[in-house]
Amino acid sequence: MSEPISLYDKIGGAEKVRQLVEAFYPRVQAHPLLKPLFPEDIEPVMEKQYLFLTQFLGGPPLYTEKRGHPMLRARHLPFPITPARANAWLQCMEQALNEVGITGPERDAIWGRLVIAAHHMVNQPEPF
Ligand code: HEM
Repeated sequence: MSEPISLYDKIGGAEKVRQLVEAFYPRVQAHPLLKPLFPEDIEPVMEKQYLFLTQFLGGPPLYTEKRGHPMLRARHLPFPITPARANAWLQCMEQALNEVGITGPERDAIWGRLVIAAHHMVNQPEPF
């Protein structure tokens, strides 16, 4: 029996993941709630996200090869991630998915997984 086709392959592989990352971070950098958390030089962050999303979507395990176990919640602990920031992250991602034309059942599957991941990163309550 042949391997099932991954989400990564269905959306167009490396080129589409690159496009998604490139559509996402300018929005993050322009968002008032997210901008303060990120370094001015966003290139290294984009590269890490490219490696991660590649494996998250079922492509080659680039992130683990280069950076070890993702442990993403732990890696995000130094940053105050409130529910509003998780929603802002998702809003930027929704717009990026639209921009690069990821649609249909692949879009729904990716979105469902990203919503879970984003809420999992929340490590601070909303400030009063
Ligand atoms: C790194 C913010 C959700 C994947 C980071 C960094 C920040 C951040 C500030 C560090 C940037 C730096 O290197 O200086 C957020 C916020 C989120 C969020 C506010 C809202 C929920 C997510 C989600 C994913 C993700 C849902 C995956 C689907 C990553 C990856 C890195 C990273 C792969 C690089 C980790 C490393 O290797 O150091 N994020 N993030 N993030 N984020 Fe997020």
